[in-house]
Amino acid sequence: MPDIAPYLEENREQFEEDLCELLRIPSVSTDGAHREDVRQASRWVADHFQQIGLTAEVVETDGHPIVYAESPPVEGKPTALVYGHYDVQPPDPLSAWISPPFEPTRRDGNLYARGATDDKGQMLTHVKSVQAWMEAIGTLPLQVKFLIEGEEEVGSGSLRPFIRANLDKLACDVLVISDMSQFAPGQPAITYGLRGITCFELRLTGPKQDLHSGSFGGAVANPAVALTKMLGGLIDEEGRIQVPGFYDDVLTLPDSEREQLASLPFDQRSFMEQLGVTELAGERGYSTLERRWARPTFDINGMTTGYGGEGSKTIIPATAAGKFSFRLVPNQDPAKVAEALQTRLEELCPRGISMELEAQHGSAGFVVDPTRPAVSAAVRAIERGFGRPPVFIREGGSVPVVATLIDQLKVDCLLLGWGQNDDNTHSPNEKFCLADFHRAIKSSAYLWHEISRVDFDA
Ligand code: BES
Ligand code: MN
Ligand code: MN
Repeated sequence: MPDIAPYLEENREQFEEDLCELLRIPSVSTDGAHREDVRQASRWVADHFQQIGLTAEVVETDGHPIVYAESPPVEGKPTALVYGHYDVQPPDPLSAWISPPFEPTRRDGNLYARGATDDKGQMLTHVKSVQAWMEAIGTLPLQVKFLIEGEEEVGSGSLRPFIRANLDKLACDVLVISDMSQFAPGQPAITYGLRGITCFELRLTGPKQDLHSGSFGGAVANPAVALTKMLGGLIDEEGRIQVPGFYDDVLTLPDSEREQLASLPFDQRSFMEQLGVTELAGERGYSTLERRWARPTFDINGMTTGYGGEGSKTIIPATAAGKFSFRLVPNQDPAKVAEALQTRLEELCPRGISMELEAQHGSAGFVVDPTRPAVSAAVRAIERGFGRPPVFIREGGSVPVVATLIDQLKVDCLLLGWGQNDDNTHSPNEKFCLADFHRAIKSSAYLWHEISRVDFDA
């Protein structure tokens, strides 16, 4: 392949500056107050594609815009489709940030900003590698399409119908997604499975208004107590989820995979240190990596009820609400879980309390076949970009639309995480390691060469 390294070397600073520009746009998809910022980010992404010589469009939806771009088709060569997202999570709590979330700041080799690793920085590596081919060599060795959405962090509601309506446009041989992590610093990885997720809000109502807990306590059901008991009733002491039928479709992990996961150099001590915990917890009978990557979970994400201000206030709150989610593993159906959950919560709901359960969004977990030729191509590309071959991992997070893309387009899928586990994703002081940013651009540039030689019909 032609030598692309000098171009990448000369443009390091420009690549970083471009990323900083995108990071300055606060494209928080869940927050209506940022609607215009999200639009602006979509335009920035589309303009950027055009500047590097791709055709690009901003597709309006009922929610946030989708950006689609493509390079010219290359006769007799495969097509790759890169999926990514330009939306980000809210930055709060603001006071915990060392530098402001939307003022990208370099500190000890990292770039700090909301979205640095999730997913603006990771997504941009593929844009920059395409730019490098087009500018340094004049043409790409295959066709690359880009599908970059603004609703990943809120469940990809608008993208699903877009995919179903545009199967020809999105037709490709392989999907490429960088929206996850390496195994550890210096140890790149290829991810062969992600968990699914299904999110809920439970709203409980008791008396018509807050009541004095002395005058009325003991006579009526307390919605806050009911909420803790009901949610508490969804999981037992051994970390087993208490929803009838929940485990019916969970596949048993083969011994060979358990051995493979156990062989990864995972250090429990430093993991605990990284998280600031003194003990690890989870489902009995499984290792930490199994619990994080290959077993389903239940988590409460937030609760709103009663008085949380200074001092005390002796009331029975009129209402209580909780947001919670289950991580799902391949073969579990989010809709089936939602149905069983409704029944279970109705059972747990005490008399005198009325409940309303809202199923918010769901997506299935999946694994991909790591023996596909496209995966070997990615192994070679990463080895050249990072100077070390990747290990094979699963991840516990979810990218809601990937299962739909694989299913609808019937294609191979490469999950190439460039981040690190300590990037503070969704947390204060999110960062992306700049050396990884450049190694990832290089790997991506080699990936186009490697994929262009894969025979997808074989
Ligand atoms: N990039 C993450 C997914 C991820 C995180 C994969 C960590 C692997 C490791 C993605 O942006 C994300 O945060 N997804 C959400 C989806 C949800 C909002 C529907 C998630 O996993 O919580
Ligand atoms: Mn992401
Ligand atoms: Mn995210």
